[in-house]
Amino acid sequence: MLSLLLCVTAVLSCASADFLPSVKGVPTAADVKERIAPPEGQHLYDVWYAKGNRIYQCNPELTGFQHWYNVQTHAFLYPTAGREAPFDIDGEEIGQISAAPLNKTEQMANPVDTYPTIYYFPDGSWTASGHPLATTTKEDGRVERGDAVNLDDHLEQASYSSTNGYLSHANYVVRLQSLDGVVPAADTCKEKGAIVNKPFTAYFMAYTDEEGLAALKKEKEEWDALSEKYNTE
Ligand SMILES: *[C@@H]1O[C@H](CO)[C@@H](O)[C@H](O)[C@H]1NC(C)=O
Repeated sequence: MLSLLLCVTAVLSCASADFLPSVKGVPTAADVKERIAPPEGQHLYDVWYAKGNRIYQCNPELTGFQHWYNVQTHAFLYPTAGREAPFDIDGEEIGQISAAPLNKTEQMANPVDTYPTIYYFPDGSWTASGHPLATTTKEDGRVERGDAVNLDDHLEQASYSSTNGYLSHANYVVRLQSLDGVVPAADTCKEKGAIVNKPFTAYFMAYTDEEGLAALKKEKEEWDALSEKYNTE
């Protein structure tokens, strides 16, 4: 109700509103600002809460990310559909994210490009994305994301995916309400090889097209039929 009121009184700021770190709640498609929204015809079909760590290594001789390299990212994903926070409850993990060296032409140790890969436990499907297509970092006047405290919010497109299953239908993934996890300050990279482990949380939102929605519906029916057949309780 309050947010509706704010929208009515300040249409402009409502349209471009991002969540502040203190605001909780599962985001919907309407919360994804235009800058990082997937193209027309894409529909949100799941939202997970992610909680994990980003590992940075100090390599003073390298320039990317001001000497700090994100050598790995890992987090558990928790379902949010029909649930209320807190989502990160032991035993409720439904997936995970980690960075995988999926590109066959980039198979050296510690490649500059790793692919954030989401794995879905129920059917083992997965999707991986390359560089974000759009982020909030370069946004004019943006203060709340991608700064020295919180990771950016961004839009990713699937680069590699499993050939079937729930996540094979994810064409785009939006990372929203990212908190913490930022790259350490450049001037703190003093010791070659030093590792810093930064915790982070975020929501990951999976989008698919009409064809994907139809496939998801069909797969759910098949799953439900199997459940009915084999679940004796
Ligand atoms: C894989 O790596 C090559 C060489 O760096 C690059 O040109 C290509 O775009 C990459 N493929 C994907 C899907 O990211």
